[in-house]
Amino acid sequence: MKSQDFPIFSSSSSSSLSASSKWWSKDTVAMVTGANKGIGFAMVKRLAEAGLNVILTARDVERGKKAVESLRTQGLEVQFFCLDVSDPSSIQIFVSWFQNNFEALDILVNNAAVSFNDIYENSVEQAETVMKTNFYGVKLLTEALLPMFRRSPSKCRILNISSRLGSLNVINFLYLYILAFSLH
Ligand SMILES: NC(=O)c1ccc[n+]([C@@H]2O[C@H](COP(=O)([O-])OP(=O)(O)OC[C@H]3O[C@@H](n4cnc5c(N)ncnc54)[C@H](OP(=O)(O)O)[C@@H]3O)[C@@H](O)[C@H]2O)c1
Repeated sequence: MKSQDFPIFSSSSSSSLSASSKWWSKDTVAMVTGANKGIGFAMVKRLAEAGLNVILTARDVERGKKAVESLRTQGLEVQFFCLDVSDPSSIQIFVSWFQNNFEALDILVNNAAVSFNDIYENSVEQAETVMKTNFYGVKLLTEALLPMFRRSPSKCRILNISSRLGSLNVINFLYLYILAFSLH
């Protein structure tokens, strides 16, 4: 992502952005998945500092509320809703709540993800969890929210946070070959 494409996340403070680069307002609605900690939490903080209407989502209610509380102590108000992106029924409940409470969505940050770093010892269950969360979670949530994207001149943004590990061109084909051979 280039900072000029998404100036909210540029290193400049919101007050130092030029009027022409600031396209958002307090009515701009943004939501971030997996935002109780890490990069997701930092993004929620930055969006709230920039003055947007932000929804922090997390799969665990306690962890999510704790994150919201920590922002509140810093003078930042954000809304919270529990959302487990690997669970289609959780996505459905979230989208119903969203439709009942907001007219439109302007920014979706697909941040929630799991990673089991030791890729040579991953179990089938771990691979299933990764696919359900990192692939189907993003796909199902984005599809379910598409009708909510604002039909207005202001551009809507979908930001998918990814990893180099998800890039097909870094897969070591030798290891894939050895794995395929050992499974025979
Ligand atoms: N940090 C890096 O160096 C790095 C590098 C490349 C890419 N990324 C990408 O950046 C994003 C965030 O990474 P991070 O380092 O901030 O990770 P992190 O600290 O592990 O945070 C991941 C977040 O995702 C949440 N999550 C996991 N499964 C979920 C689910 N099923 N539903 C909803 N939320 C779920 C976690 O919730 P819990 O707290 O409940 O587990 C946590 O809030 C990920 O997409 C990752 O692939 C990070």
